[in-house]
Amino acid sequence: MGPNYYLPFLLVSAAARKTKCRLPRVAQSAGRSVMDDWPLLNGLMALVVLVPLAYTVVFSDKLRKWRRRWYSEFVGELRVVWNAVLDEKKRTFLAPLAEAVSNDDQLRLKKSIRILEIGCGAGTNLRYYPDGASLVMVDCSSSFEERLLENVKKYPRLFLERIVYSCAQDMCEITDQSVDAVVSTNVLCCTNDERQVLAEILRVLAPGGKFYMIEPQPADKLSFTFALQWILTNSGIWPYLFDGFRLTRDYECSVREAGFSAVESTTFDLPRSAHFVFRIVSKQMCLVATK
Ligand SMILES: C[S@@+](CC[C@H](N)C(=O)[O-])C[C@H]1O[C@@H](n2cnc3c(N)ncnc32)[C@H](O)[C@@H]1O
Repeated sequence: MGPNYYLPFLLVSAAARKTKCRLPRVAQSAGRSVMDDWPLLNGLMALVVLVPLAYTVVFSDKLRKWRRRWYSEFVGELRVVWNAVLDEKKRTFLAPLAEAVSNDDQLRLKKSIRILEIGCGAGTNLRYYPDGASLVMVDCSSSFEERLLENVKKYPRLFLERIVYSCAQDMCEITDQSVDAVVSTNVLCCTNDERQVLAEILRVLAPGGKFYMIEPQPADKLSFTFALQWILTNSGIWPYLFDGFRLTRDYECSVREAGFSAVESTTFDLPRSAHFVFRIVSKQMCLVATK
C-alpha cells in the first residue's frame, strides 16, 4: 500500500478515537442509544463513511487540478531558487566531463562524448556540459518538451542527438554500453524503484563510463528533521505535493550495492535561509560512480 493511502486511515483512527472519548459524556446527559454503547461500531461507521470521502477528495479532479497548478507555480519557483543555489556546485561537479574520452570511435575523433541525462526536465543542466557533447535526454514526461527545445537552442555548442520519453527504469530504446556518462539531478528521489534505474544506468554506460548524481539525502536519523521527513513521507503528504518525492531514501547505499567498480561521494547543505523548503530538505549528496 503506497504512502498516499495512509492519510485517510490516520483521519479515520483520529475520528474514531475522538468518538470513543466523547461518547460516555454524551450518553450521561442525553438518552442512550445503541451507538453510544458501541464505540467500536461508531469507529467502524466512521471508517465506512470517511475512507471513501477522503479518497474522493484526495483523488478528485478539482484537487488534481489544484495540485497541478501548485506544482507548476510553487515548484517552478522553488526550482529556480534550487538551481541558483546549486549552480556553483554543479559547475565544479560536472567539470570532469570536459576531460572525458569517448568509447565511441567517431565521437573520440571529434573529441566529443555522449552524455545521457535522466529526468532532464526543461534542461537546467545543459549549461554544464562540455562543448561538442552529444546529448541523449530521457524523461518520463513530455510536458517540458517545449521548454527543453527552447533551452537547447541557447546552446548551439551542444548537439541534441535525441529525446527519449520513457522511464529511467526501462530505457530499452538505448543500446547497451553506448554512453560515456549518465547525469541525474533530483530524479532518483522521484522514482519508485531506484535499483532498477541503477541497473539500467550500468547497462547503458560504456566500460569506464561514469554516473554523476546529485540527490537530496535524509537528515541524520536521530534528528528532529529526520522525524519530520519520516512523517511527511509516510503520511504521503510530501510525495503527493512533490511528484512522488520521498525524503527518507539513502541513495548512496543503493549505488554501492548496484555493482559499480568505484563510488565517491560528498555531502553538503543547502543554505536554510534561501527557502523554507531547505529547512526540511537541506542535506544533498554529490556522487560519482564508475562502471
Ligand atoms: C525534480 S525534476 C528535476 C529536473 C532536472 N533534473 C533538474 O535538476 O532541474 C524531476 C524530473 O524527473 C522526471 N522523472 C521523474 N521520474 C522519472 C523516471 N522514473 N524516469 C525518468 N524521468 C523521471 C520528471 O518528469 C522531472 O522532469
